[in-house]
Amino acid sequence: MRTTDGSRCLPVRRLSLAACVAVLAACTTAPPASPDMAWVAQARSVATAVPPKLVSVLQEEIARSGHEGAVQACSDKAPAMAREASAASGWNVKRVSLRNRNPQAVPDAWERAVLEDFDRRAAARVPPAQLERAEVVFENGKPIQRYMRALPVVELCTNCHGTPDRIAPAVAARIKTLYPQDRGTGYGLGDIRGAITLRRPAS
Ligand code: HEC
Repeated sequence: MRTTDGSRCLPVRRLSLAACVAVLAACTTAPPASPDMAWVAQARSVATAVPPKLVSVLQEEIARSGHEGAVQACSDKAPAMAREASAASGWNVKRVSLRNRNPQAVPDAWERAVLEDFDRRAAARVPPAQLERAEVVFENGKPIQRYMRALPVVELCTNCHGTPDRIAPAVAARIKTLYPQDRGTGYGLGDIRGAITLRRPAS
């Protein structure tokens, strides 16, 4: 069992209580937070509020200027909405992906491990709404509250993140111009496109 990663510290259902205590004591980070802790509920409410707002902005933009025009809108507005949510909530809010389009959307080590876990659980047919992770992680000795929630691919997303046959040539061209290093295509329905990720100091 790895002890440097708190997320690995709780496959303890089959262990005795004493063994659990020993396992927890060996962890260098806190175990995954209980889903009903107050800070987790706060993070969850921010994380669940932002994506539907972004989807309605996208839908308006698609109606106004087609998917091609909406690529530009997504490029400008999605990061701006994350910044607004950060300012309003006190959490640092952004989106990340294992195959990022936005060069800023690269996950750090903790986020990467969580995204890989989301992919495994999605493949095992866990409903995307249940794919979240909350944990207090120590960075330079300081406790940081971290929360992630999966962003699953629905029909709308495939116009810009799907397999090549799903993406209109004009949309593909626009994406290539704005994001020459794009890795954010090839997704199918139900795949995990990435996650919304939140962090703030614990104290
Ligand atoms: C009109 C095209 C378009 C549609 C539709 C679209 N996206 Fe995106 N997506 C983009 C663009 C452009 C970016 C890069 C700019 C940014 O950071 O938002 C992006 C970035 C992202 C990111 C940030 C990580 C990364 O790879 O850069 C996630 C996560 C994401 N999209 C998920 C989704 C999901 C889930 C849907 C469907 C609900 C969706 N997108 C629909 C164009 C689109």
